[in-house]
Amino acid sequence: MINNKIKLMKNSFYQESVIKEQLIEFLKHADRLSMHEECYNFENVFSKYQNRKYTTLVNSGSSANLALLQAMLNLGYLVKGDTVAFTALTWATNVMPILQLGLVPYPVDIELDTLNSSSTLFQEAISNAPNKIKAFFITNVLGFCDDIDKIEEICKAQNILLIEDNCESLGTVYKGRKLGNYSLASTFSFFVGHHLSAIEGGAICTDDEELGQMLIMTRAHGWDRNLTSEKQKSLREKHNIDPFYDQYTFYELGYNIRPTEITGFLATKQLQFADEIISKRASNFKRLHDASLENADIVPLNVEHIEKVSNFAFPVIFREKALFEIYKKKFLEAGVEIRPVVGGSMLSQPFYKKYCESDAKSPNAELVHQNGFYLPNNPDLDEKEVATLGELLKAKVALPVNQ
Ligand SMILES: Cc1ncc(COP(=O)(O)O)c(C=O)c1O
Repeated sequence: MINNKIKLMKNSFYQESVIKEQLIEFLKHADRLSMHEECYNFENVFSKYQNRKYTTLVNSGSSANLALLQAMLNLGYLVKGDTVAFTALTWATNVMPILQLGLVPYPVDIELDTLNSSSTLFQEAISNAPNKIKAFFITNVLGFCDDIDKIEEICKAQNILLIEDNCESLGTVYKGRKLGNYSLASTFSFFVGHHLSAIEGGAICTDDEELGQMLIMTRAHGWDRNLTSEKQKSLREKHNIDPFYDQYTFYELGYNIRPTEITGFLATKQLQFADEIISKRASNFKRLHDASLENADIVPLNVEHIEKVSNFAFPVIFREKALFEIYKKKFLEAGVEIRPVVGGSMLSQPFYKKYCESDAKSPNAELVHQNGFYLPNNPDLDEKEVATLGELLKAKVALPVNQ
């Protein structure tokens, strides 16, 4: 059974054996392994890929989320105590930096058919939140979205800053635009299993020059190294810095969340396969989605509004808890590696209960937490594995008579 297991991830990155050889050669000859040309080169090619002006490469998607909020605070785009809305179904380190930085999180529930926050639910959150929502850190869950264009409109009309956690949706296109481009800035993860893997890694993209420069400072110690020469000059003049101290002057609150040259090298190599990776995931997704629509036990997923679905993993939500239990057993016994959907409902997580006292509810995210799991969708799944997953999805099970 173990050998036949259909795994969530098969490799550390795409084309692993070839890229490992290339990495070994790179390491043998590289003069420098701390952040340098490979990282800067990736930032340039990724900006072009994503069609954004500035990219800051960091050591994880979680660091990207933390750095983005810190940079917004450094610039005064947000101030401590501001309410920041978030998608209730997400990863913990989307919400944690909101708390860690003295901001106040407020959940926006998800629609069951898209697994993402809609403009309707966002509007409800705006009405119900005890204080004005100043920013919405939306998560584009699993390569899908709801009507994020309308959410963007609401944010513009109501002076709310929209930022996207796009860690799971690199490559998805909605209404002619890539997800990650509906907002002031967006974050990406390059951890194993994501669309692009650099083993660990993350990035923030933006078109806002001030924010781009602030992210560079926030990434490394709050100093001015790596800024444009004009920006360095203006900071040094403003603070009257003696040249002896200019490399050791710390202007803003920052971290050390720099990537290494290994991150830059791997991310650049993987980006060359991005289209191939995304289309393999998209074609697996289509087959699994078609199969799931044949089974009335599964809540149907609606992706018709999305031009190109760059799926992360395939979610299956059951109409009842009893069905979830039966199917969970069935998939596990068939040797399929399954797991809870993303990080589940944040409102059910112990850290959230510990730090957030609120009456806000997110019933749909809770239902997904309780009644859902996700199946593997990675570019290395073979034909037989996709067929097996499709058959398992289609086959309805009978509930025990006393249910
Ligand atoms: C929505 C979302 N945000 C953030 C992260 C964190 O990324 P990382 O694991 O690179 O820190 C993840 C990780 O899977 C994620 O799914």
